[in-house]
Amino acid sequence: MNAQGNELVGLDRAHIWHPFTQEKTAPDPIPIASASGSVLKGFDDQEYLDVVSSWWVTTHGHAHPAIANAIAEQAKTLEQVIFAGFTHEPAARLTAALSKKLPGDISRCFFSDDGSTAVEVSLKMACQYWLNQGQKRTRFVMLQGGYHGDTVGAMSVGRSSGFFDAFANMLFHVDVIPFPDTWEDDPDVEQKEHNALADLDRYLDQHAGECAAVILEPLLQGASGMRMCRPVFIQKLNARLKEANILLIFDEVMTGFGRTGTLFASEKAGVTPDIICLSKGLTSGFLPMSITACTQEIYQAFLNDDFDHAFAHGHSFTANPLGCAAGLASLKLFETEQTLTKIAAIEAKHRERLDRIKDHEKVEHTRLIGSIAAFDVKAKNSGYNSEVGPILKKYFLERGLLIRPLGNVLYLLPPYCTSMEQLDRAWDGIEDALNDVV
Ligand SMILES: Cc1ncc(COP(=O)(O)O)c(C=O)c1O
Repeated sequence: MNAQGNELVGLDRAHIWHPFTQEKTAPDPIPIASASGSVLKGFDDQEYLDVVSSWWVTTHGHAHPAIANAIAEQAKTLEQVIFAGFTHEPAARLTAALSKKLPGDISRCFFSDDGSTAVEVSLKMACQYWLNQGQKRTRFVMLQGGYHGDTVGAMSVGRSSGFFDAFANMLFHVDVIPFPDTWEDDPDVEQKEHNALADLDRYLDQHAGECAAVILEPLLQGASGMRMCRPVFIQKLNARLKEANILLIFDEVMTGFGRTGTLFASEKAGVTPDIICLSKGLTSGFLPMSITACTQEIYQAFLNDDFDHAFAHGHSFTANPLGCAAGLASLKLFETEQTLTKIAAIEAKHRERLDRIKDHEKVEHTRLIGSIAAFDVKAKNSGYNSEVGPILKKYFLERGLLIRPLGNVLYLLPPYCTSMEQLDRAWDGIEDALNDVV
């Protein structure tokens, strides 16, 4: 690495505390000088093919000029304005454009800062929706393994994800029902779905009137290991909630903006929730911003002559104009670059390469949805702390591939600009790892 890279690592080690990192044992962080498309560039001409979209945020590609320009132009005009009592063009145009694309009659957008705050907003919104109608409903239901972020409310509804043992005493009570995760050629999927729905039925018999909402990641639980379920399960769950008059929150922080092959996973699931949480791909990964969008019916419940019915929530940077400009530019690219067609090509490539490895002795539970392919590596220990995770991560980095296994789960989640040649390179690396490393 050159002198500048070394200097940055020195400063980093002296002053920075990294996320989800055991700072004592972690190797030095890799300084990145620039990025373009799917490629990150270091200070030593080393390149890394980013096939995890930098924690699942990058959609159209790093430093995409259309988005970079939109942010630069916006910065010269209006960089920030208080969003209580004021509005601005990028927010108005982004929400108008997004509303046309969101499922069903979800068309009312509340801005916040990241995935976790989008989830916090959804929980508070659901709770107050009932309160404003004279009902005290404070129970929430999550699905086993669901992950919704790292703030306290989001941790509470993600309490079974396995990441939050140190904070158990801070979390509020949340009821958990099973998640019928499945994979290709899974003979037990119907039984798992049946059991999960039977659990839900028992819960509803006892607590329907106290439950504000069920929150879930539609079709795909990301952080707990790219665990997938079938649309029919979400549809049956939704039918029960409709009958019991309970809100359904879709956390599409990861699945939103094309990851599952449709703009939103809701479409693929065939279910319109009451509230939807969006972040990550909202700005194509350029800036932190999120939206919690809801139906007009929910919004109406907050309209009253008294302030006590208003939604008393907000952040300093709510609807930051730069983020909104990025979001609008990103949405336009889905049309002008025919992004969903690119995602279909990525899915076809994943299909071809998954088929090549699915009978490998180290591979099990292959799964695929849209731009995301995943499988389990057979290892002594499974789960997030599996010993194979760090070994594989290191092996891939040495080959110029940014692939971050979730324990023994290997997955690819590339930016949509990734070429077939680049994807083949990533899959070749995976095949070699299966043969040489694990
Ligand atoms: C489904 C889901 N919800 C919420 C979050 C939290 O988002 P953030 O890290 O932006 O707070 C994540 C992050 O990975 C996520 O995958």
